[in-house]
Amino acid sequence: MRCCRIIVNSTVSSPSGRLVVLPQQPVDRNILGRAIMAHIEELAAISESRTGLTRVFLSDEHRRTNAVVAAWMEAAGMNSRIDAVGNIIGRYEGMVPGAPALMLGSHLDTVRDAGKYDGMLGVVTAIACVAALHRAGKRMPFAIEVIGFGDEEGVRFGATMLGSKAAAGCFTADLLALQDSDGRSMADGLRAFGLDPDQVGMAARSRGELLAYVELHIEQGPVLEARGVPVGCVSAIVGASRLGVTVTGMAGHAGTVPMAARADALVAAAQAVLAVEQRCLSEPGVVGTVGTMTVAPGAINVIPGSARFSVDIRSVEDRQRRQAVDDLRARFAEIAKARGVGIDNTVLHELPSVSCASWLQDQIRAAIVAEDITPLDLASGAGHDGMAMVAIVDIGMIFLRCAGGISHHPAEAITAEDAAIGARVLSRFIENFVPEAAHP
Ligand code: GLV
Ligand code: MN
Ligand code: MN
Repeated sequence: MRCCRIIVNSTVSSPSGRLVVLPQQPVDRNILGRAIMAHIEELAAISESRTGLTRVFLSDEHRRTNAVVAAWMEAAGMNSRIDAVGNIIGRYEGMVPGAPALMLGSHLDTVRDAGKYDGMLGVVTAIACVAALHRAGKRMPFAIEVIGFGDEEGVRFGATMLGSKAAAGCFTADLLALQDSDGRSMADGLRAFGLDPDQVGMAARSRGELLAYVELHIEQGPVLEARGVPVGCVSAIVGASRLGVTVTGMAGHAGTVPMAARADALVAAAQAVLAVEQRCLSEPGVVGTVGTMTVAPGAINVIPGSARFSVDIRSVEDRQRRQAVDDLRARFAEIAKARGVGIDNTVLHELPSVSCASWLQDQIRAAIVAEDITPLDLASGAGHDGMAMVAIVDIGMIFLRCAGGISHHPAEAITAEDAAIGARVLSRFIENFVPEAAHP
């Protein structure tokens, strides 16, 4: 068993937020990994579902998660606050108070029936790294901020990255009118969370305040595992479009309306779903998913009068993604005409693919090499908060190997040893970080 030379977190909070002191330095890899895993388990227990992990933006579970994370941040020597959109932010001052910050973190919301690591690992690991600095009494020439974004997945309101969009100053007022599946608007959700929808703009950070945004995240794909390496450096993140589609037909009696006389919204929607699959199968590099569908009125003996579904289209090539979206909208119109139904669609979200800054990639690779790991560059097929943050600051990402590349699934898994390696790489990155202006 190898011991760490870099000292990372040697404390972990109990579920009550009380600090448990772990064995003194140097910290054994497995102890560090277990400390991170303990925090992950604690967050995984905060779920709105009894049978799995589900935690959406502005829910009670989001509020409880922010409180737990704030306690960890404070224990790690940071001042914590909740911003105007519900993100939790911890700040560890540098040698000079008020200095621009290196921002680290990820998101704290989940998909439905989620894995435990998507998002949470980046927040927990960043706090562990700051805790190590705090215990060593070390201040950097820059401040460090750790952010737990309230919404990256976009599960509740369909639009995604609402936390990072607000932090990046890209949150537009029209988003406040988006509704969840219970018909509650985001504006109402913010009010129920104790926030003022008119003040969301206050969450926006300015360019000069931040030096970089760097996120550690599980890979959510199989590349690192297949290559036998625990961490990799992300080069780019694919672009994404999300559509909300509503099909309007005519509800009617399942026993009396002749088949040829129906305007069945669900059958039209089914044809549209197949069109998404066919379009994306026809072009390598484009992926498309229909992940939600609701049917009304929803009775076994009633012809569906309306159907609503989502479409998620992604590609590294923005041109390919936009073309796929245009083609699908045209195809939906054809289906509507042929079936005598209405099909309306709105763009819920659209972000182009982004590159991670080369100067940050260089420093991330150097941190990986310092751990005696051959750096591997890979693009992310999943979306990340950096896609929004890039509007105001350069971004970088570190990927950590996950079992079988499985994600957005309860079987999502990493090892404690890999968690420790990820923390050591992030610590090295922080301790050697040189802002771009000073970068050769
Ligand atoms: C988030 O995980 C996304 O890629 O949709
Ligand atoms: Mn996710
Ligand atoms: Mn994620």
